[in-house]
Amino acid sequence: MIDRPHVLLSAAQSLDGFLDDTSPERLVLSTEDDFAVVDRLRAEADAILVGAGTVRADNPRLLVRSPDLRRRRLEQGKPEQPVKVTLTTRGLDPGAQFFTVGDTEKIVYAPPGAADQLKHVATVVDAGDPPDFGRVLDDLGARGIKNLLVEGGGGIHTRFLAEGLADELRLAIAPFFVGQPAAPRFVGPGLYPRPLRLTSARELTGMAILEYRAADEPSGRDVQRLREAIALAAECPPSHTFRVGAVVTDVDGEVIATGHSGEGDPLNHAEEAALAKCEGDPRLAGATVYSSLEPCSNRSSHPRSCTQLILDAGIPRVVFAWREPPVFVDAQGTELLRQAGRHVVEVPALTPEVQRENTHLTF
Ligand SMILES: NC(=O)c1ccc[n+]([C@@H]2O[C@H](COP(=O)([O-])OP(=O)(O)OC[C@H]3O[C@@H](n4cnc5c(N)ncnc54)[C@H](OP(=O)(O)O)[C@@H]3O)[C@@H](O)[C@H]2O)c1
Ligand SMILES: [Zn+2]
Repeated sequence: MIDRPHVLLSAAQSLDGFLDDTSPERLVLSTEDDFAVVDRLRAEADAILVGAGTVRADNPRLLVRSPDLRRRRLEQGKPEQPVKVTLTTRGLDPGAQFFTVGDTEKIVYAPPGAADQLKHVATVVDAGDPPDFGRVLDDLGARGIKNLLVEGGGGIHTRFLAEGLADELRLAIAPFFVGQPAAPRFVGPGLYPRPLRLTSARELTGMAILEYRAADEPSGRDVQRLREAIALAAECPPSHTFRVGAVVTDVDGEVIATGHSGEGDPLNHAEEAALAKCEGDPRLAGATVYSSLEPCSNRSSHPRSCTQLILDAGIPRVVFAWREPPVFVDAQGTELLRQAGRHVVEVPALTPEVQRENTHLTF
């Protein structure tokens, strides 16, 4: 599996969380000192990414400004400027400074055919429709990009954070309000699955600089696989019990098996259906079970609970979104797995996605 780049999000916002105001000119939120720090972050990056909205609204050049920093990059054997990256579904003007300024490589991720007019000014890559951010990171990793700086705007920050793909966040907060509800926000509504930890808070010429690091667990890949498990619940036949999906992966995150409640046997649970497909597989010794719901710990329908099946299969790690509510039984899956030395990761931020498939139950 290709290593994805380390992703640092950087944004400047007003006290009330806006990235800009509604006027046609770009609102300057940063001071010169803050711009200088961002210039350093650019110089440390292998690539800089902004969304199509920012290319249209701000027409940024996305270059390292400082001659010293550019010289240092060359001394380190790097290209003078980082690669420029953007994502679009509707295409962009080839005359934008993103494309015309600087002889660095430019990469555009777009659905097939959506950015054909940019082929003479950039490398255009099919990233699915709509562009899949995991796929973008895989592709950048394959191109040797190890550090990616994401500079917005709000649509792009929202997706990176909601998909759990941001490893670090730097927020520079300007000491004033925008107060216009129609202005673009740093992030929009969404489910944000990876908790952030504040690593630094300081003052820089009147701005508050906050730095955060995403929790190691769940990782971006965990979030992706867990969402795949949650989506499988849609395949469940109608039932009066939980509609659950499960995905089993090997140690590298490659899928070994999937399952959903009621698959094969109407009484089957999702984990049970998935594990039945890979019984005795030696990869289970390093596997992770992703389940939309906490694995059950006692049940009447079949002799072994999913917790017991996971223990018996020797699976070391379980990731789930929704701790089983006491609708049918008092669940103890997490406790039993942890007592047996198995690693359990709970992602409560995604609980509403699971509940959406289970509105037939009262909880
Ligand atoms: N203060 C700051 O730090 C800062 C930094 C950057 C930007 N900004 C401000 O932010 C505003 C622009 O933000 P924005 O949210 O409009 O634009 P954005 O986040 O820069 O870009 C969003 C665009 O990305 C494209 N995209 C491609 N795949 C996507 C996917 N899977 N999901 C979502 N989007 C996808 C879409 O382009 P298509 O339209 O082609 O479909 C979408 O409109 C501007 O006002 C700018 O000044 C502020
Ligand atoms: Zn079960």
